[in-house]
Amino acid sequence: MRGEPVAAELRAGVTERVHDLADRGVVPTLATVLMSDDPDDERFVELKHAACNEIGIETRDVRLDPDEPSARLRRALDRLSADSEVDAVFVQAPLPVHVATADLRRRLHPHKDIDCFHPETLGRLVLGDPRFVPATPAAVRRLLAASEIRVEGADVVIVGRSTVIGKPLANLLLRNTTGGNATVTVCHSRTEDLAAKTRRADVVVTACGVPELVDGSMLSSGVTVVDVSANRRVIDDGVEVVGDVEFESAKERAGAITPVPGGVGPVTIASLLENVVLAAERQN
Ligand SMILES: NC(=O)c1ccc[n+]([C@@H]2O[C@H](COP(=O)([O-])OP(=O)(O)OC[C@H]3O[C@@H](n4cnc5c(N)ncnc54)[C@H](OP(=O)(O)O)[C@@H]3O)[C@@H](O)[C@H]2O)c1
Repeated sequence: MRGEPVAAELRAGVTERVHDLADRGVVPTLATVLMSDDPDDERFVELKHAACNEIGIETRDVRLDPDEPSARLRRALDRLSADSEVDAVFVQAPLPVHVATADLRRRLHPHKDIDCFHPETLGRLVLGDPRFVPATPAAVRRLLAASEIRVEGADVVIVGRSTVIGKPLANLLLRNTTGGNATVTVCHSRTEDLAAKTRRADVVVTACGVPELVDGSMLSSGVTVVDVSANRRVIDDGVEVVGDVEFESAKERAGAITPVPGGVGPVTIASLLENVVLAAERQN
């Protein structure tokens, strides 16, 4: 289940919409907010900017030192929310542990909140009326649909319960609509006997950031595997990127499997572009 063909098709449609907006004098603009000095987080932000700029979306790059007080982030979100030239805001996870997110989440204008940071945006998704579908869960659904993997009635196990991936994805797959109606189990670090859960799944989605946690012995024959993570691991002669799934043993069992890299990642970026354009269309 390669991501690039799915991403390319989506990007082509989004690029046309960027041109339509340009004809009306509108340049869609994404602001990213990064409060981390982790090179991986910096790389994720840079990828987003490059993808936006390539198709004519403008970007703003707001960076805060991770040691700065929450008030700095609050002010940045207030400023971006009020800025009429900014259509969409993406807050890169994770935020430093000292940041009290409950209050901060409410500072981001829901109409610009393309990744469901604000409780209202996330709440609407849970209620089945999403304003935006966050990019990574959207990418997982797109990959499944592109490969014609049936989720209706299927047992889907998601490994990871984060607010940015596991929880929204579980809610989307549960919806009583096309691309939903799955029976969803969400696993996490306290789950007992993970292998027993994954072995009875028709579809396994991993988003936990633990290199090669799931191997072929934990999967049933014919299972669909979607690996969201791209973990960087130091090896003798440099760094390698591996998923949460041990690809070689898993592909012997799987009917369909995403590679890492080159699976979910490109589709996530294209889905983010679509959300930025959607936000710009609605606000202009
Ligand atoms: N491809 C993409 O488009 C994309 C986009 C964003 C992120 N990512 C990647 O996706 C991964 C997850 O990101 P995130 O932001 O959701 O991470 P996160 O907030 O750190 O959440 C990780 C989740 O995995 C669970 N977990 C950790 N160790 C586990 C174990 N041994 N067994 C079962 N569950 C375990 C954690 O459980 P607890 O809740 O109990 O701690 C938590 O729910 C990361 O590798 C990130 O880099 C990929």
